[in-house]
Amino acid sequence: MRLRTQLLLYLLVSVTPSNASLFARGPERLLRGVSSAHRRAVERSAALAKDLRRALSGVLVEQAVSDTAVQHVYCISGTSLTGNGSSSSDGSDSGGGSGSSPAKGSGTATASGSSPSSTSTSSSPWKLKQAYQGNSFFDGWSFFTASDPTDGTVEYVGQSTAASNNLTSINSAGHAIMRVDTTPKVSGNRMSVRITTNYNYTGALVVLDAVHMPTGCGTWPAFWSNGPNWPAGGEIDIVEGVNTYTNNQATIHTNPGCTIPSNSSSVLDITGTVVGPTNCAAAQTDNQGCGIRSNSNISYGPGFNQIGGGVYAMQWDDNGVSVWFFPRSDIPSDITDGSPDSSGWGTPMANWPATGCNPSTYFYQHSAIFDTTLCGQWAGNVWSDTGAPGQSESCASITGTSSCSEYVQNNGAAFADAYWEVGSVKIYQTS
Ligand SMILES: *[C@@H]1O[C@H](CO)[C@@H](O)[C@H](O)[C@H]1NC(C)=O
Ligand SMILES: *[C@@H]1O[C@H](CO)[C@@H](O)[C@H](O)[C@H]1NC(C)=O
Ligand SMILES: *[C@@H]1O[C@H](CO)[C@@H](O)[C@H](O)[C@H]1NC(C)=O
Ligand SMILES: *[C@@H]1O[C@H](CO)[C@@H](O)[C@H](O)[C@H]1NC(C)=O
Ligand SMILES: *[C@@H]1O[C@H](CO)[C@@H](O)[C@H](O)[C@H]1NC(C)=O
Repeated sequence: MRLRTQLLLYLLVSVTPSNASLFARGPERLLRGVSSAHRRAVERSAALAKDLRRALSGVLVEQAVSDTAVQHVYCISGTSLTGNGSSSSDGSDSGGGSGSSPAKGSGTATASGSSPSSTSTSSSPWKLKQAYQGNSFFDGWSFFTASDPTDGTVEYVGQSTAASNNLTSINSAGHAIMRVDTTPKVSGNRMSVRITTNYNYTGALVVLDAVHMPTGCGTWPAFWSNGPNWPAGGEIDIVEGVNTYTNNQATIHTNPGCTIPSNSSSVLDITGTVVGPTNCAAAQTDNQGCGIRSNSNISYGPGFNQIGGGVYAMQWDDNGVSVWFFPRSDIPSDITDGSPDSSGWGTPMANWPATGCNPSTYFYQHSAIFDTTLCGQWAGNVWSDTGAPGQSESCASITGTSSCSEYVQNNGAAFADAYWEVGSVKIYQTS
């Protein structure tokens, strides 16, 4: 918005060699302008996340190299899953799912998801602006088909290719499926999907309800968001992790000037743990960002899937940015009812208060993103590491393969569990 041009110039001039290298990666990226900036941001974020995790686990792998930082932001929020394409009855639990038609036919994403009118009568300040669910889930998202910015052993395919290869579908419960190709052997990259909302928001409550998320050695899924001119528009990673990890990490990446005022969980009033620097500036901390790891081993991966997932809610308002995770059995009724009100949700897993990082300065025009990449700057870089929650044994040891990419290329069946099953993504705003 306002400072966009200035910020972009600032980036070009002072963002450090790593940013420069990003810009230098390929002419096509420059041509893509904003969207490429988003992706880079994402990629970088991912790398950062990796670094953070390494640091946390006490296993310092190589420093985040150059331009790849942390990527990914997921928002898994969930309320009750509706098996129904109807978006106005947000959250209503339709016991028996209905929609079962695969989204195979849909060629191109439409301009936006459904825009239900708010029917909230509660004290919730949030109005539902976009709801992605049911048979129309994939409407309103763009499929990213450029090479993976995080150097994964992955090929992101377009909407029709994804549908024809059964990488995307709507299951019998009306939930959106996003899978990784399970062809036994591939010679190059393995197919996967990365989608971005066409809609963007400045300030929002994003609620992700997911039943299942990708997991397993080689995987690196994320539900996240970013704004234009990364990192000027900021990046918020809601759900992210790699390999056999069990604890989610939420991370923000920004321009210089944004910090976490403390690394103490009690001071921040969060249930999670700060796992990296308190300076969130991508350009000043090798793009590590400010990462906060959940203390719950059902917040990500196998544990998350065992309980039928749950809801991730990311609130971005004048007070800052916060992330909550609610296991399936513990989703607040106001979320299920479609009138979310965080005042009753208790302590968030993560919080980046406005006192250290004014959200109206460091974040704007975000689009939400799902992706599942393989290996690359994070999953690949920690392939032989141990120490992170859920990775007490390294993937090199678990798989008996020293190379993540080699494993990914030759063991398609191992990626049967590398899928997202999403009940809904809902974007609420106050006006
Ligand atoms: C979807 O929801 C609408 C409105 O609540 C309802 O009339 C319809 O029967 C539902 N369809 C299915 C398949 O559940
Ligand atoms: C497509 O994938 C789903 C799992 O997401 C699976 O249940 C179904 O059998 C697959 N269909 C085909 C034709 O392979
Ligand atoms: C966000 O949406 C507004 C309104 O449609 C549009 O003008 C703006 O260009 C979008 N920003 C980005 C970064 O896509
Ligand atoms: C918290 O921050 C202080 C001061 O910046 C630092 O000395 C300490 O190592 C940090 N603690 C952790 C766990 O990162
Ligand atoms: C989570 O931690 C508990 C307690 O240590 C353990 O019993 C359980 O198996 C763990 N679950 C997962 C999915 O790692």
